[in-house]
Parts: sequence; structure tokens; C-alpha cells
Amino acid sequence: MTAVLQLSLTFAFLCLWSCITSSSQCKLNDEDTFKILIATDIHLGYLEKDAIRGNDTFVTFDEIMKQAVQNEVDFVLLGGDLFHDNKPSRKTMHCCMEVMRKYCMGDRPIIFEILSDQAVNFSHSKFPWVNYLDSNLNISIPVFSVHGNHDDPTGADGLCAIDLLSCAGLINHFGRSRSVEKLEISPVLLQKGNTRIALYGIGSIPDERLYRMFINNQVTMLRPREDEDGWFNLFVIHQNRSKHGATNYIPEQFLDDFLDLVVWGHEHECKIAPVRNEQQLFYVTQPGSSVITSLSPGEAVKKHIGLLRVKGKKMNLQKIPLQTIRQFFIQDVTLSEHPDLFSPEQPNVMLKVMDFCQEKVEEMLEEAERQRLGNSLTPEKPLIRLRVDYSGGFEVFNTMRFSQKFVDRVANPKDILHFIRHREAKDNIKAILSHPTSEVLQLRVEDLVKEYFQKAEKNVQLSLLTEQGMGKAVQEFVDKEEKDAIEELIKYQLEKTQRYLRERRVEATEEKIDEEVKGGAFKEDLAIIRAKAHRDRSDSVRDDDLNLSDEPADIAVESDEASTSAPTIRGRGRGSRGTSRRGRGIYINIHKHI
Ligand SMILES: *[C@@H]1O[C@H](CO)[C@@H](O)[C@H](O)[C@H]1NC(C)=O
Ligand SMILES: *[C@@H]1O[C@H](CO)[C@@H](O)[C@H](O)[C@H]1NC(C)=O
Ligand SMILES: *[C@@H]1O[C@H](CO)[C@@H](O)[C@H](O)[C@H]1NC(C)=O
Ligand SMILES: *[C@@H]1O[C@H](CO)[C@@H](O)[C@H](O)[C@H]1NC(C)=O
Ligand SMILES: *[C@@H]1O[C@H](CO)[C@@H](O)[C@H](O)[C@H]1NC(C)=O
Repeated sequence: MTAVLQLSLTFAFLCLWSCITSSSQCKLNDEDTFKILIATDIHLGYLEKDAIRGNDTFVTFDEIMKQAVQNEVDFVLLGGDLFHDNKPSRKTMHCCMEVMRKYCMGDRPIIFEILSDQAVNFSHSKFPWVNYLDSNLNISIPVFSVHGNHDDPTGADGLCAIDLLSCAGLINHFGRSRSVEKLEISPVLLQKGNTRIALYGIGSIPDERLYRMFINNQVTMLRPREDEDGWFNLFVIHQNRSKHGATNYIPEQFLDDFLDLVVWGHEHECKIAPVRNEQQLFYVTQPGSSVITSLSPGEAVKKHIGLLRVKGKKMNLQKIPLQTIRQFFIQDVTLSEHPDLFSPEQPNVMLKVMDFCQEKVEEMLEEAERQRLGNSLTPEKPLIRLRVDYSGGFEVFNTMRFSQKFVDRVANPKDILHFIRHREAKDNIKAILSHPTSEVLQLRVEDLVKEYFQKAEKNVQLSLLTEQGMGKAVQEFVDKEEKDAIEELIKYQLEKTQRYLRERRVEATEEKIDEEVKGGAFKEDLAIIRAKAHRDRSDSVRDDDLNLSDEPADIAVESDEASTSAPTIRGRGRGSRGTSRRGRGIYINIHKHI
């Protein structure tokens, strides 16, 4: 059954393919072409207190939104981590709102429609409709975003910074899920002329949990009933793409094969040119962050945002290089590879090594200056990192004096040098390879708690709180300044324990309670608790049309036949049509993709 279905899907795909290859060319800016600006991981507020780099994220956000205006896009699509901190500072929030208000408001008409039921699609919002259909707001460029792991919903009310922007009418937050055990991803349906986009998204979920949901078949992608194959299926995800341990990432193969393009957030290296997944036959674009948050090789790749054009089932992604990004140069040196210059036994070896490192930094600075020539938007002081492998008997030197020499010319004078030793080097490289951008070395509070619980297993009082739940709560307490996290967890576990004991009619002798409690009935973590609380409360393109040059290029046009054929209605019952709450557009029923 499944096999037959797959066969017919492949066949449909091949048909489409041949239509495309034999099709003609057309203009890029017509009434059937969606123009979408894609960007991700803007990390507003990153190092906002830094005397040199403090404004970097705000300046670049301004550049990105300006590009949206200049390119007259229909909307902006963000892949999460708009904010660096879960609770952005007032300054960060203010800068963000200032930029959005400056560029996204105005009289310019918006010419695409929302076909899905907005009251459903934005049900978590107090104003459950897209901002541009709000009669009290004049939106010229709608922004759609999922949340990332830095700006995810927390606290008893499950709100995140993006929800504040949403309430202010500046952003359309989508891809939220109430459940943590099961996911039904259904699209926001958009139409411009004859082009229809099904926009799917999942806001950041801890990788392990999402991985588990995929493995247990708990993730369902819903598809429009009407004209199922006539949609361009665009999916935004904010997860680890590169592998970290067995389940700490999401393999592309997990995603449904009906998708056309996946926009992958979270990973900071710019790999924006769409790469075809040969198994699933979709393309993946990884725009990368618009700010350098770690001095690792992945962040040294030139940063871009994308101008995505979609017409019918065809797409074109134009790379737009960002001008305001601070330059970053990174170089590795291995001291033992220069026996002609110095050896560990020499009396003045330390000074020689220092001179050598200084020379390398000077080289990078010269290169930075050359590349910056004529580009007034690029910040003056570059980021410089020299990784020095000192294995083989060399010693590290005090970097203070070294830093002094560059204090006026480098944006990160304090951490230019990074000493590594061979064994350590291997580990570092392994960590960097597996995740070039994460803060690999950061000590996780969660791990400390885990360790504590492993040691303190006998502690009766604490056995009510699972190690996992407690770890999460403490993590939220520290990372996200979520002051109520621990109290919430304790209260919940206490109630649950009481209920459990009552149900089992355990006589309240202390030993019995211990026994029951240790039986392992309390394996929930904070996120599950919260999701439950929420539920209770609410009750509720193909190769040849891919042109990746920096210049706009023509898109092939599909023959009309496919789009004029009558829509097929599948699934149980007929697709109902009706007016959406805000009186614009029809909505279309969605059915499960098998
Ligand atoms: C950031 O911008 C503000 C306002 O333009 C300015 O006063 C401040 O000095 C800038 N800070 C940095 C670190 O450049
Ligand atoms: C969007 O609305 C449709 C109804 O038109 C609904 O079936 C679907 O679940 C909604 N999607 C989301 C993400 O809420
Ligand atoms: C939005 O712009 C239109 C066109 O200029 C204008 O008629 C309308 O009054 C504006 N609405 C608001 C709420 O400012
Ligand atoms: C990605 O992997 C890192 C390293 O294992 C992990 O700390 C992080 O939580 C993962 N990201 C997500 C969104 O789960
Ligand atoms: C992409 O577009 C450029 C400029 O229009 C054109 O010269 C080039 O041949 C195109 N490349 C492909 C692969 O179609």
C-alpha cells in the first residue's frame, strides 16, 4: 500500500520534472511570483554590552530589513533565534521594535492571501490573524518567524520574546506546538496569483525529544486536501543539522519527501545555496547566522541572506551578501612544525614564539584591511583568532602583553590567541567538526545537577524530583532567568505524587512511600509538565530552475495544464470552504499525509 503510493508519487514527480525542463522562461517580478527574504539566527542583543561589538546585531538587523524593502519582498521569513537571550534587555527589545516599525509599516499594498484558517493557525495569539490583515495596522512587509532555542517560550504562560512582537503587531509567530509527545505540523497556506505556498514550521524543540517523536511516528505533516500537488511546500526548522551524539540532531531523512524546500535554522555556518537531498528529493538551504557568536571556522564563512522566488512549483534563490558583518579571520599554527624558527630547548623560545604569533596576526590584519577597502559599511576592527598548537614541549605565554599590542586594531583583543595541545586539539577538532558553532565548552548546569543526583541517589526528599526534571528546571532558572521554574516543578511533582499515592491507596508509612516513589512513576520533565498544563488550561524546484548566482535569473515557467486541472479533494469528507475570520480569503481543509 505504502509502496504503491510512493511509486505514484515518484511518477508524479518525474512528470513534473519533464514539464519543467521543457518549459519557457519568464520575468521574475510578476503577479504570480512570491518574493521572500529568508534569514535566520540574527541573535539580537548578542554582546550588547561590548564596547566595540555592542551594536553589531542591531546594525545587521537594520541591513536585513532594509534589503527586504529594497527588494520589495512579499514577506520576510525568519528561522528562529531572532533574539540571543531568552529575556532580551529593554535596549534589545527597543532596537528590534524600532527597526521593524521603520521598515515593516506603511501603505504599500500586500498582494498575497492567506487561505488557511488564521484563527487556527495563530490560535496561540491574542490576535489570531496575520498582522497585515489587521484593520488597525498598516503593514507593508509581514514577517513570519518560528522561535529558536535562544528565544523559545518559557514560564508558566509559555510566552517568548517573539510573542511580545506578535502582540504588538510586528511579527507573525508560527510553528508553535502545544504537545511535547506528538506533533501535527500543518501549514499556513498562502496564495499570490496562481502560486500557492504551504508554509510549515517547527519552533525549536530539544533535539532528543523531536528525534524520539520522529522515531515513534508521532510527527505528522498535514497537507491541503485541494490540489495536493499544486502547492510549493516550504518548511522552516530550527534544530541541529549536524550530528552530535546519536539523537542530538535531526536527520534530513526524517522530513517528509513531499517538501520542496527546507530552510534550516540554528546552524551558524552559511550554506545558503540549496543542496538537494537525493533520498527525499527536496532541497535544503542553511542561511546561517547574521552575527559571529563563536570564533570557529564555520563562522568565518561569508554571511548571506537569501531572496527566494517561488513561482508555481519552481524556485530561485538569490544570495545577498551582508555588508555590515564584522570581518573574521582564523588561522591555525603548529609550533612543532617550525623547527627552523624555534625549538622548546632554546633559551628565548617564548619571545620567539610570541613574535611569530604577532607576525601571523599582523598578516591577518593586513588581509582584513585589504578586503575592507572601499566598503564603508563593514566595521573597522576585525575579529581575529590564532589557534596555536603548542604540543611538543612548548609552553603557553601570558596573553595579556600580547593583547595590548592589538587593543586598538582588533575587536576581540582579549581572546585572539587560543592555545591547544595535541590531545586536547583532537578533542577540540572533534567537537568543532560535530558542531562548529555551539558553545561547546560551556559548562552545562544540567550536567552538574545530573552528577549531583547520581551521587545523592539515597536522598529520600529529593527522590520525588526526577534528575531530569530538576536538571531542566535549574537550567531554565539559570539560562533563562526563569525564576519560577523550580517552584513550579516541585509543586507539580508534589501534587502528582499525592494523587498517585491516593490512587494506589498507599498507607502513608514513610517506607511505603519511598518504595512507591522510587518505582519510577515520575519520569516527566518540565517541558512535559508545562505542555500538559497548557493543554488543560486551553482545553483545547528542481535542478534546472535553481540558479544560485548573485544576479537575478529567469525562472522556468511550468505549462498551464497542471494548474488548470480540477482540484482533487481527498481524505474523509469534502473540503469545506468558508470565509476566514478576518473576512479575507477562503480556507482549505487539510488532511494527513500518509
Ligand atoms: C551604539 O549605538 C549608539 C546609538 O547610535 C551609540 O550611542 C553607541 O555608542 C554605540 N555603541 C557601540 C558599542 O558602538
Ligand atoms: C492552519 O489552519 C488550518 C485550517 O484552515 C488547520 O487545519 C491547520 O491545522 C492550521 N495550521 C496551524 C499550524 O495551526
Ligand atoms: C493605512 O493606509 C491607508 C492608505 O494610505 C489609509 O487609507 C488608512 O487610513 C491607513 N490605516 C491606518 C490604520 O493608518
Ligand atoms: C544541539 O546539540 C548540542 C550539543 O549536543 C546540544 O547541547 C543542543 O541542545 C542541541 N540543540 C537542540 C536544539 O536540541
Ligand atoms: C544563472 O543565471 C546567470 C545570470 O542570469 C546565467 O548567466 C547562468 O547561466 C545561470 N546559471 C544556470 C545554472 O542556469
